[in-house]
Amino acid sequence: MKLRQLFTALCLAATAATAQAEDPNLARNLAATCANCHGTNGKSVDGSGMEALAGTTKEKLLQKIRDFKSGDKPATIMHQIVKGYTDEQMALITTYFAAQK
Ligand code: HEC
Repeated sequence: MKLRQLFTALCLAATAATAQAEDPNLARNLAATCANCHGTNGKSVDGSGMEALAGTTKEKLLQKIRDFKSGDKPATIMHQIVKGYTDEQMALITTYFAAQK
């Protein structure tokens, strides 16, 4: 009986981990945290003076973000914002914006 309970617990744990890794909206949800300033889906509002993130290549976006994180590119706010994301999250976010037309 005990072994069976352990097996069930392991199965549940494995299912939970998979569910999290495969959240189909994770990239979109993370990218939404940039919308306040850069516009919905990375499309900046006309006349706002903000850079559009949509339609750029993933490589270009990642490079800019890394430069903010390392301090190579001076910023008023982005160097602080990027500190809140892991490399994996930034990869998801930039892939998402690069796919927006
Ligand atoms: C509170 C407003 C704000 C939020 C939220 C924000 N940004 Fe920014 N972003 C800026 C500002 C302002 C700049 C110009 C650089 C600076 O002064 O920090 C910028 C610049 C950038 C640039 C460089 C654009 C270019 O072409 O030079 C990238 C890339 C960028 N942000 C990505 C992101 C991503 C990705 C997120 C979400 C994780 C995000 N930003 C969230 C305000 C914001």
